[in-house]
Amino acid sequence: AAASDHQAETATISQGTVATNHSGYTGTGFVDYTNVTGSYVEFTVRADAAGGASLALRYANGTGADRPMDISVGGKVIASKVSFPPTANWTTWATKTVNADLTAGTNKIRATATTTAGGPNLDKLTV
Ligand code: GCU
Ligand code: CA
Repeated sequence: AAASDHQAETATISQGTVATNHSGYTGTGFVDYTNVTGSYVEFTVRADAAGGASLALRYANGTGADRPMDISVGGKVIASKVSFPPTANWTTWATKTVNADLTAGTNKIRATATTTAGGPNLDKLTV
């Protein structure tokens, strides 16, 4: 199937806020993760059929340090401490892609900050 975009600002957000203070985002904003371990954004993604998919997370990290996150599908971590390295400034956006097996129907895809710095700013997930 064709790739589809899932905006972070309309996903389920735990310990984060929707923000618009840095340009270059798609949709109506992005998620600013609270700077704590465990902050997350969870997307609900429908798949027509079970199988492998690429999960592309568009983000910005205007700090000088990595903002790693665990990526889980249906509560199971499928990629741990995925690196979200610096992108020069908060208006420079980059994409990090991980591969995952999805089930037919609804998949809960979560990106959870693994350090006290929280996650990067997150714009969207493309599946
Ligand atoms: C700044 C920036 C935010 C970012 C935050 C952070 O406050 O404006 O967009 O989320 O730093 O370090 O997480
Ligand atoms: Ca933040």
